Amino acid sequence: MSAQQADSSKKLWGGRLSESTAASVEAFTESISYDRRLYRHDITGSRAHARMLARQGLISKEERDAILGGLEEIQAEIEAGTFEFKPELEDIHMNIEKSLTDRIGAAGAKLHTARSRNDQVSLDLRLYLRDEARELDHLLAEVQRSFVTLARKYLGAIMPGYTHMQRAQPVLLSHHLLAYYEMFARDRGRISDCARRMNLSPLGAAAMAGTGLPIDRESVAEELGFDGVTANSMDTSGDRDFALELLFALSVVQLHLSRLAEELVLWSSKEFEFVEIGDRYCTGSSIMPQKKNPDIPELIRGKSGRVIGDLMSLMMTVKGLPLTYNRDLQEDKEPVFDALDTVKAGLAITAELLTNTAFRTDRMQQATIGGFMTATDLADYLVLKDMPFREAHGVVGRVVALCQQRDIELTDLTLAELQEFSTVIENDVFEILSVKGSVNSRTSTGGTAEIQVARALERAEQQLGTIE
Ligand code: ARG
Repeated sequence: MSAQQADSSKKLWGGRLSESTAASVEAFTESISYDRRLYRHDITGSRAHARMLARQGLISKEERDAILGGLEEIQAEIEAGTFEFKPELEDIHMNIEKSLTDRIGAAGAKLHTARSRNDQVSLDLRLYLRDEARELDHLLAEVQRSFVTLARKYLGAIMPGYTHMQRAQPVLLSHHLLAYYEMFARDRGRISDCARRMNLSPLGAAAMAGTGLPIDRESVAEELGFDGVTANSMDTSGDRDFALELLFALSVVQLHLSRLAEELVLWSSKEFEFVEIGDRYCTGSSIMPQKKNPDIPELIRGKSGRVIGDLMSLMMTVKGLPLTYNRDLQEDKEPVFDALDTVKAGLAITAELLTNTAFRTDRMQQATIGGFMTATDLADYLVLKDMPFREAHGVVGRVVALCQQRDIELTDLTLAELQEFSTVIENDVFEILSVKGSVNSRTSTGGTAEIQVARALERAEQQLGTIE
């Protein structure tokens, strides 16, 4: 063995270069510090590739078995924490390949036949993200389940619904909770759409032009559970749309979590007191002994900038890249990993937080008094008595102004007083002026009437039981 071959840091691509890489360059260009988390998917891809090479007669069965055995050893060592990752070997692909070749010799050096790290890294990332998409789906379903449990528990409780952060119309608390169920349902849909689109095998694009060696892309794709192979080798080599799409879907999940977080912060304030977050899920203040702070929702809200930043980061990386692979693309991984870690942690803690939060339906009920939230109902009542809506709107506006002047509620007016505004008003008006009457009158599909909310709740329970 020559001195050069014995050097463990000798680059696998070193043939063309006469001098060894500067240490500063190794430190600057390495990605092993973070792409090691792709190890399992890298090995899965290599296994399928080696089997295909053997089927196509590009390597012998013995070589294939040596490769498979070596890869198994490597995977076991990585999982046991005994594998030595070397920054001078740049990335996960070369760390594994070099270690394989050190173990089994020439057969290991054949693994990279008809393959480039360009299609390899795309493969690894697709396989990895496909698994992550599945995990995200479970976490999202868990959060949905928390909402459905709460909606069932509090069915019937009434609270103010807000627009412009002003009391608008009374709604069922369960209707509000199920709004989040819908938001997270769309998130699941977005993630599964994107997982479906990414589920094509890039392997065989090689560096970017394809390969002249007699490979069989389709069989590798099938073995790896892909729906097919990518169509254009040049596109494949530089394409990160699948990562961008997932980052966008993750950003929307984070926005949804953040909107919920904002409501929990508001609702746990003394001003609202709509929720009481369990003590184990709050923190204290180091100076103010009376404080109980909603740090979890605040942090979730705070992490939104970071997740959206991850999306922006990869968009900027891809912007202006000429076809095909450019090393810039190595910058894809950290934002994707960061967004995944952040969103997954946010989803898990949100599910927990929700199960440890009590909803103060007494306070919510109280808050439905004052604010003339049934004014629209009075207008609708007049409409049903054949008054044009615009006219009804004006009449009710004057009724509200009178109540404000006298500091009373709509329900405090007598029938005679109401009739001064319009003679079409009759005794049945009081039913619709009540908060409960108002809620239950909103029977349109997707509305807040208990009959509709109960239906939506049942559908959600059914979906959660059967989807997955
Ligand atoms: N570590 C690289 C990345 O993440 C792998 C692909 C490198 N390809 C290359 N031609 N240098 O993108």
